Amino acid sequence: MFWDVHTHMVPSGDDGVRTEEDGLALCREAAERGTSVLFATPHVWPHFELSEAREEAVRAAHARMAPRAAEFGLDLRLGFELTPAPALLETDLRRFRLGGLPAVLMELPFDGPLGLAMRLAEEIEAAGLTPVIAHPERADEVIDDPGQARAFAGRGWLLQVNATSLLGRHGRGPRRTGWRLVEEGLASVMGSDGHRPARPPFLDEAYEAVRARMGEEAAGDLFGAAALQRLESLAPAEPPS
Ligand SMILES: [Fe+2]
Repeated sequence: MFWDVHTHMVPSGDDGVRTEEDGLALCREAAERGTSVLFATPHVWPHFELSEAREEAVRAAHARMAPRAAEFGLDLRLGFELTPAPALLETDLRRFRLGGLPAVLMELPFDGPLGLAMRLAEEIEAAGLTPVIAHPERADEVIDDPGQARAFAGRGWLLQVNATSLLGRHGRGPRRTGWRLVEEGLASVMGSDGHRPARPPFLDEAYEAVRARMGEEAAGDLFGAAALQRLESLAPAEPPS
């Protein structure tokens, strides 16, 4: 059963689903396609931060949606996706945890230097949490020099590859780099980064592609987020307040 650690299935005013009904319809189809745990990770952007009012609305939407998702067998959890910004370095990063896990999802800039992202990941670590690096295979810096991703993984940070990258939906560079991260064992978790019906939160097709190339066990670990499950069992965190 798949863990999708990166989606935009809870409405939050960003570019993800617009309504709870739209999110639930896509979640239902994801469950039918094999996803058992799905994190909604609304964007926290430099130009659209997580105000208290926005956070309250997002958490309330999730609280309404989760029991309905459970009815069709999906464990719908809530986290956030941080885009590196200087203001985040001054923030209590525990606020952005992936559900009850001691981990925070943050993306890399698609272009430009990675310095600020590195600092943010270090701050996440300093807060006692594990950075989960969203779609490193889509960052130009990593496409040009995959050694950077190796260095992140070497620090114990978890690399999350997008299913759509493996399927070639973001072009050749992300596809080549995504497969490289998966084949070298550097990728720890998968995400659909699903936003809307045209970009849905499904993992089954990418799972089949990885299983065909690398076998059932490797695919099962990756799509079952074995790395996150280990994190959960080794260092259980108190539930988000
Ligand atoms: Fe995303």
